[in-house]
Amino acid sequence: MKNHPYKYVAFIYSHLMESIDYSVWGDYLSDLIDGEGIKHPSILELSSGLGNLSSILSKKFRKIICSDNSLDMLINCKNSKLPKICFDMREIPIKKEFDILLSTFDSINYLLTYKDLVKHLKSVKNCLSKNGFYTFDVSLELNSTKYAKLLNRKGEFEGVQYRQRSFYDIIKKIHTNKFEITLPNKKKIQETHRQKIYPIEIFFKAADESGLYVQDCFNCFTFDTVNKKSERAQFILRRID
Ligand SMILES: C[S@@+](CC[C@H](N)C(=O)[O-])C[C@H]1O[C@@H](n2cnc3c(N)ncnc32)[C@H](O)[C@@H]1O
Repeated sequence: MKNHPYKYVAFIYSHLMESIDYSVWGDYLSDLIDGEGIKHPSILELSSGLGNLSSILSKKFRKIICSDNSLDMLINCKNSKLPKICFDMREIPIKKEFDILLSTFDSINYLLTYKDLVKHLKSVKNCLSKNGFYTFDVSLELNSTKYAKLLNRKGEFEGVQYRQRSFYDIIKKIHTNKFEITLPNKKKIQETHRQKIYPIEIFFKAADESGLYVQDCFNCFTFDTVNKKSERAQFILRRID
């Protein structure tokens, strides 16, 4: 596995994510899954990070596997019972079909080019069962313009100091988070994370090009259609054939 930009951030991630209420997120996705009416679905979570969401969903949905391309993220997952696989979601290496694939919390925004987005969706299509669906959320521009400043923060977790700087380039549509991490031995490490903030129409186009269609595009955390005030959208995609 190549050196991954999440190597050190994975360590402090559980601390940074303390403010995120994964149980609310889990309840929303659980309702969404129930609404689609698949009994005992097999689920593959992509870009699961520390597996916080899979951990919650696994209490109700037993056949769940989580995955990420950062081995460090998966290693730092606290749930030892969850099956975990390390791979890049642009090239899913599993030769099996799942009823549901899911990806949460901006992970799709980490695909920085349209080409990668299409590659990812084509790969998803290859392991989606005929009546299955893919659900993911995306962060929209309003989220970046509203909250970038709030992510300028610093702190300490188990002897590791961190400083996060966050800024949004409205021309390039790139949201950058820079982490400066100071290890207990005073060694400094920098990690830069970039996310592409796509206009919502791009996902419809990319789905179409990948043999999928958009069944729903919700204002995230609701079942209302996405609108101009949405900060995040929740998609449900299905196979065209
Ligand atoms: C913002 S985190 C979200 C993690 C998790 N879904 C959550 O809700 O906590 C984004 C995750 O996407 C993963 N990621 C980024 N690019 C990826 C790729 N090409 N393939 C698989 N995972 C990727 C990162 O390693 C990271 O764990």
